Amino acid sequence: MILAGRRVVLGVSGGIACYKSCTIARRLTEAGAAVDVILTHSAAEFVRGPTFEALTGRPVLQSLWEPGRALDHIHLARDAELVAVAPATANLLARAAQGLADDFLTTVLLARTGPVLIAPAMNDRMFAHDATQRNLDMLRHRGWQVVGPAIGDLAEGPSELPGRMVEPEEIVVHIERALRGPTSRLRGKKIVISAGPTREPLDPVRVLTNRSTGRMGYALAEAAFARGADVLLVSGPTSLRPPAGITVIPVSSTEDLCNIIAQHIPSADALIMAAAPSDFRIDQPAGGKRPRINGSLTLTLEPTVDVLGATLSRRPAKIVCVGFALETGGDVTRAREKLRAKRLDLIVLNDAMEPGAGFEVDTNRVTLVTATDAVPLPLMSKRAVAEQILDRIEPLT
Ligand code: CTP
Repeated sequence: MILAGRRVVLGVSGGIACYKSCTIARRLTEAGAAVDVILTHSAAEFVRGPTFEALTGRPVLQSLWEPGRALDHIHLARDAELVAVAPATANLLARAAQGLADDFLTTVLLARTGPVLIAPAMNDRMFAHDATQRNLDMLRHRGWQVVGPAIGDLAEGPSELPGRMVEPEEIVVHIERALRGPTSRLRGKKIVISAGPTREPLDPVRVLTNRSTGRMGYALAEAAFARGADVLLVSGPTSLRPPAGITVIPVSSTEDLCNIIAQHIPSADALIMAAAPSDFRIDQPAGGKRPRINGSLTLTLEPTVDVLGATLSRRPAKIVCVGFALETGGDVTRAREKLRAKRLDLIVLNDAMEPGAGFEVDTNRVTLVTATDAVPLPLMSKRAVAEQILDRIEPLT
């Protein structure tokens, strides 16, 4: 459990985005956190207390005047490791900025000295208003972390201006980073992660590629970000949404991937090559679309660059390098040969033929192979595999 036993207060103020706070509460609870939800009066008009009680398994706090709760606002402000407010409406921001303490949530915020994270959400003009901007500046100045708002559709229609709450899954990653970052050795470390397939053109419309979806690399990027790392994700073509807070450089061919890795590796503390670069390309891609012919077509393939091999000389002495070995048969000896040849600290062996492992699934069953040991892990989510990989490399950075 990633957030086992961590204490989080989730403040929910009354905007329509508060229906998404249910997902935040649930994800945090699933990750092992103890989540105390505080609803403002308006939030409780949108989503009622029992919903959050069922999702978190804990009582929901709404009124300062409930019997037996006279000091709860002070205890929560003191004991929570993080107070997160999502959504934070314009009204909540204004009350918090002015130091008003007229309900449970604002009282906790005023009594709070530890970290606070807020995810504003409101109509785009309300967000752009000078009053809201000044309030936010004040709160930033107070040391509060502000996540979003994002640009996108609002309840009242499409918008091209900020106002929409950042998606719940992204807020959860930011909350995790706020909780785990301060104690992780990966905090502030630059980690370059490659993900996804590459594409080698046959002609302007056809490509040679593979079944990689990028999920393993994206899970690693998210997990490293959640530990406070400064993550650069170099991604081949995928349909995945860029993870929160992470710089993504899109690439297409293996050569593009190699150039970007070569450029960023000298300043990196760790490199994780989760990409599945194409090992071959067509020797002479056609300039125009190849027409259908009667009979067979013979194409000559030539090897692409081995990115890990080609960038060896640019690796700083202390960099930690992780590769993946996709084998059909799960051969540890072959994986260890790759580890040695590509000068890696760790190679993650996965068997393409194993059910639930490899491409196009959310789970993976891997063996973590180093020069001295090989640790098989059970079938687990790709995010859980990512945590295991980071646990192994964190002490090395
Ligand atoms: N890799 C690379 N450049 C390539 C191909 C792979 O840097 N052109 C990296 C992968 O990202 C992975 C590791 O090398 O981290 C091993 O990849 P894998 O496909 O298992 O091995 P290959 O070196 O391609 O060897 P083979 O295909 O013969 O198994």
